[in-house]
Amino acid sequence: MSHFELIRATPEHTPIIHEIWRRVYGHDFAQDRPDVPEDWQTWFLGHEDGAPGFACQVNHYEIHARGRWHRCAGVSCVATAPEARGTGLTKFALNELSRVCAHDGFDCAALYGFRDSYYRKFGYASAGWRWQISSTVDRFPHLKAELPLRAIPHGDFAPLEECYERFIQTMSGSSRRSQAHWLRRFGKRAPDVYAVGDPVEGYFWTNPAGFYNDLEVGEFVWTTGRAYRSLLAGMRSLGINKGKIVWCEPPTSPFLHQFRDHGVDAAWHRSSMFRILKADRTLGDLGLVVRDGICGDSGSGSGEISIAGATQLWLGSVSARTLADLGELTASDDQIAELDRAFPPQDVVCMEFF
Ligand SMILES: CC(C)(COP(=O)(O)OP(=O)(O)OC[C@H]1O[C@@H](n2cnc3c(N)ncnc32)[C@H](O)[C@@H]1OP(=O)(O)O)[C@@H](O)C(=O)NCCC(=O)NCCS
Repeated sequence: MSHFELIRATPEHTPIIHEIWRRVYGHDFAQDRPDVPEDWQTWFLGHEDGAPGFACQVNHYEIHARGRWHRCAGVSCVATAPEARGTGLTKFALNELSRVCAHDGFDCAALYGFRDSYYRKFGYASAGWRWQISSTVDRFPHLKAELPLRAIPHGDFAPLEECYERFIQTMSGSSRRSQAHWLRRFGKRAPDVYAVGDPVEGYFWTNPAGFYNDLEVGEFVWTTGRAYRSLLAGMRSLGINKGKIVWCEPPTSPFLHQFRDHGVDAAWHRSSMFRILKADRTLGDLGLVVRDGICGDSGSGSGEISIAGATQLWLGSVSARTLADLGELTASDDQIAELDRAFPPQDVVCMEFF
């Protein structure tokens, strides 16, 4: 029987981790990695019988859910060397990672899975997605700007911060951003950012290159109706020489409820997965046993809920009634009604990509 271990990487492990990433994700990906993780990241290395075979990165975020901020481990760059696949190393490493992150004080973990079905085995639940809407310019609503559009100086995120934080507090699953998070979100070449209102009530960013191609809006954030409408007006004017305008909105999309029309497409985009690591610090006392075969059961009561169901209930992607219908929750009708009052469904969106 093999012996598996997962360790927190130190600088001497960098060449080994880079080599695993190079063999799994290619040269460009490995070359883009820093020599050591940034101070808001941790690298982990997994071994089977002393041989390195697994690597991943944990990004430290603080996400909003139901009026509170929670430390969230954003798991990325998951890679198992081809010869180590199917040996049980990955399964061990991902489960151990949850235990280590819980021990390190993370309340939850998040990732973008290559397949949700794969990560469900490790207690992750599908939670969080957004609409990607695309409309030809001639089908785009012709709205009058109620607030003037202004350009934000390149790379300057300070005027956007408050607006962004208010926006993400209308839903769950998005993280507040440090300077490092903003720089990473802007990417290698800072996009052009346009805002309305002073202080900023809404903004979007884009890169205008090309003719008759798509105008891709990178981030679209608003906190008032007049900001929303004014930004749509701004997008339309930027899209005048384009084929389509493409942007994203949370599941309760104002556009799809007010302005959809034939010729407008909306696709399910960037579905994320979350996993509660600490049930008491996220859900509080539910009066139920939270079943977690990896980090350990918690809570007490006559009913029970799976860790995946608990995660969806907490974030708001699935109601208690639906979880009961799906077999993820066993409780009395009164308890289910009470859970639905305490945890009403809400939008879950992860605004970071990692
Ligand atoms: C994804 C990856 C990390 C998985 O590692 P692995 O060692 O191949 O995974 P395992 O073989 O241990 O799979 C664990 C279990 O999941 C099952 N499984 C594999 N693919 C699955 C899928 N798509 N859906 C559901 N289950 C799946 C396996 O059958 C196995 O089940 P078992 O324990 O009952 O036998 C690895 O294949 C890899 O590095 N891929 C390329 C990079 C990548 O896609 N990373 C993930 C980014 S999100």
